[in-house]
Amino acid sequence: MKRVITYGTFDLLHYGHINLLRRAKALGDYLIVALSTDEFNWNSKHKKTYFSYEQRKQLLEAIRYVDLVIPEEDWQQKRTDMKEYHIDTFVMGDDWKGKFDFLKEEGVDVVYLPRTPEVSSSKIKHDLYDAAEVADSKTNHDDLNTDPQ
Ligand code: CTP
Repeated sequence: MKRVITYGTFDLLHYGHINLLRRAKALGDYLIVALSTDEFNWNSKHKKTYFSYEQRKQLLEAIRYVDLVIPEEDWQQKRTDMKEYHIDTFVMGDDWKGKFDFLKEEGVDVVYLPRTPEVSSSKIKHDLYDAAEVADSKTNHDDLNTDPQ
């Protein structure tokens, strides 16, 4: 059985994530997702997620391509994960291209998949924030234009 692993935050799960997970699973038979914990996101990646670790884990576990979700707690655990989970293939989106080539020393294939264009968790957050600002300013503008008589 060929075992594949990928790492990430997967906040506000979107179709870019699903594309990544589908293509990762197609590289083997068993897909493990190492999911960044809230502490790791905050302390090391400087990311505040909308969904908690448990919520993000639940969403990933409901995806047919995902067989197991484990916590990602630090940058260093990758080498030991490769051994502990008997990994054949390590997969990441190509925003990380070259960054994890050192894992080849552990005897695994390292694959960077092209990212799905024009979607990311942070873009969703920004777009929703902008949409809320527009709605707010429209409400204020309408209030100002209301004839008190
Ligand atoms: N990913 C992808 N295509 C996208 C977005 C993400 O292939 N459009 C991949 C990333 O390359 C990574 C995995 O999905 O391998 C998890 O990425 P993550 O950083 O959690 O998602 P982003 O949407 O990029 O989040 P953020 O905007 O917070 O960086």
